[in-house]
Amino acid sequence: MSILAPAWTALFYLVAAVCFILALKGLSSPRTARRGNAIGAAGAAVAVVTVFLSARLENIPLILAAIAVGTALAVPVARRVQMTQMPQLVALFNGVGGGAAALVAVLELGHSGDSWVRLAVVFTMLVGAVSFAGSAVTVGKLQELISTRPLLFPGMPAVMVLVLAGALTAGGFVVLTGSAGWAGALLVLGLAAGLLLVLPVGGADVPIVISLLNAFTGLAVAASGIVLGNVLLLVAGTLVGASGTILTKVMASAMGRGVAGIMFGAFRGGSTAGSTTLSDRPVRSSSAEDVAVQLGYAQRVVIVPGYGLAVAQGQHTVAELATALTARGVDVVFAIHPVAGRMPGHMNVLLAEANVPYESLRELEEVNPEFANTDIALVVGANDVVNPAAKSSPGSPIYGMPILEVVQAQQVVFLKRSMRPGFAGIENELLHDPKTTLLFGDAKDSLSKVLGAVKIL
Ligand code: TAP
Repeated sequence: MSILAPAWTALFYLVAAVCFILALKGLSSPRTARRGNAIGAAGAAVAVVTVFLSARLENIPLILAAIAVGTALAVPVARRVQMTQMPQLVALFNGVGGGAAALVAVLELGHSGDSWVRLAVVFTMLVGAVSFAGSAVTVGKLQELISTRPLLFPGMPAVMVLVLAGALTAGGFVVLTGSAGWAGALLVLGLAAGLLLVLPVGGADVPIVISLLNAFTGLAVAASGIVLGNVLLLVAGTLVGASGTILTKVMASAMGRGVAGIMFGAFRGGSTAGSTTLSDRPVRSSSAEDVAVQLGYAQRVVIVPGYGLAVAQGQHTVAELATALTARGVDVVFAIHPVAGRMPGHMNVLLAEANVPYESLRELEEVNPEFANTDIALVVGANDVVNPAAKSSPGSPIYGMPILEVVQAQQVVFLKRSMRPGFAGIENELLHDPKTTLLFGDAKDSLSKVLGAVKIL
């Protein structure tokens, strides 16, 4: 027997839904993101407790055991994960959400006589399975368990069309007959579609695909709300679907790409193909002391942080260096590229951790015209986001992506460990430019050495 009356259940669901909306609002700015996260978690807790108190649940010990296992696995992983591995974790949780929605739909198939509900079951199974398999591939690519390059085989587009046609046929039979055999076929074809959809996506585009699959999971969860007759699932799924879609569009346009180009570009042999051929042309390398002199006697320095700064955890040292230079009268700002790092807002979060004031941050459009008046662009662990190939090489995987035009600065200093390319896997011509010098080494070590040398100038 349920403890909560239906009116109270509806009220608590409303409270949870409002929490989810406020959470999204909070997550829209770094200042309020932490609070937004907490509000979202509170909403989820209200939702789970409400289900326990309102529904006639069977198998309660099994449900509690599943929650305990999930918690025991997820909490240590979430606590230990590095900031740079966050996209993988999000992809993993997202895929599991899609898979769970698909499994719930399979179980509900036996209880649904109505063809409209069976249509929702089919949708949930197909989209949930695509999201599960696709997310598994994105995790593999980001962890470099499988190649980050587009993976294609001859005839892949035709196989894709056959799989989708097969899935639609199986789905049609499930709606008409409710057959478990066709449902099994639908699940297998959905998983195959997920793999085929994501394998051809190149490394640089994977975070965008994660966001797209996140939107898919939202849709699957919303449809499972229809299957289960649960309004809160419908609301929560719709919010995830809508926010995932918006994020996908924003990320794609920050990289100057269309979503279709990202998903199917490799089939045309075009934009996601990439090249990792490195030339052995010489570069000008420098010592920490020389870089300190360059920076310490400059009038204006623009620091460009990238993924390597996050890997090296050099945010505190770079903040200290900026303070030391400012104390010497150097005008120092940080230029933030929207896709620097591996997730939206990555650099903002990283620099906020080191208490770099917002006033020192410059967005791409704002800072680009200022590079011509900049003595030194100090590029710390960034590569693709300053690569001029985005403007000059139409065949390049990053062609069309807006870049920070450090090439316009009087001098450019790169802090990186080697001549290896960035995430997109392409060489950066700027490293060979006569006005560029490189200080090789881990970004945090190099920054500490430069900082030490600036202090004794
Ligand atoms: P990348 O182009 O990946 O370059 C990072 C650089 O950091 C590399 O050149 C690497 O060279 C260096 N590095 C790595 N570890 C280092 C360490 N410990 N110390 C010093 N240097 C280190 O990064 P980016 O410029 O930030 O560009 C981001 C990339 O991610 C773009 O391709 C972007 O499209 C993609 N992406 C981002 C997003 C979001 S939303 N952020 C979404 C989709 C795609 P070494 O190995 O030689 O050190």
